[in-house]
Amino acid sequence: MQNRALTPFDRVAVEAQRALETVLGSPPALRANPAAMEADVVLDEVERRHAAGLMRINHVGEVCAQALYCGQAAVARDDATRAHLLEAAQEETDHLAWCADRLRELDSRPSLLNPLWYAGSFAIGALAGLRGDGWNLGFVVETERQVEAHIDEHLASLPAGDGRSRAILEVMKADEARHADEAEAAGARVLPVPVPSLMAAASKVMKAIAYRV
Ligand SMILES: [Fe+2]
Ligand SMILES: [Fe+2]
Repeated sequence: MQNRALTPFDRVAVEAQRALETVLGSPPALRANPAAMEADVVLDEVERRHAAGLMRINHVGEVCAQALYCGQAAVARDDATRAHLLEAAQEETDHLAWCADRLRELDSRPSLLNPLWYAGSFAIGALAGLRGDGWNLGFVVETERQVEAHIDEHLASLPAGDGRSRAILEVMKADEARHADEAEAAGARVLPVPVPSLMAAASKVMKAIAYRV
């Protein structure tokens, strides 16, 4: 893996650049936005604000996923695990870009707290990663399963006319399920209690805040 040749300083610089791109810029998607095939229905003000709140949560979720995987990859011991994490992070970049596009269409913006979400998730990812690669992959499985579940809630809660947000979330949901399956196949450990409940509690707080800010 290319990372091998990098000095510790290079690695910090690479991570800092990736963080800035994720938080401040709009990293480009590699795949076409699934919303493109759906009509852009005009929502009323209440619907528009609700859809924007949900898509902001999804955008924050992708910022966190990106940061978690980069934090885990930074300390992964095995090259195959690191490659797996960085590949999943690339697909999260597509999700991030699609959610950002939809937020713009809904006349809204990403969370102002994204730098905070990124830093916190990167630290959690690195801590999980330090426990070993089985844990690393177990963490991916749990994260992806929880994201899949909250996407289901959002699909049920989006305004009926918002086919564009729905199209994005459907593809994201399928990708997250595949990320979890692949991590399981790669040798993920089942995380012990209370780790999954702590993760769910943290994401509940994040969702409550990101809906508004
Ligand atoms: Fe994602
Ligand atoms: Fe994912």
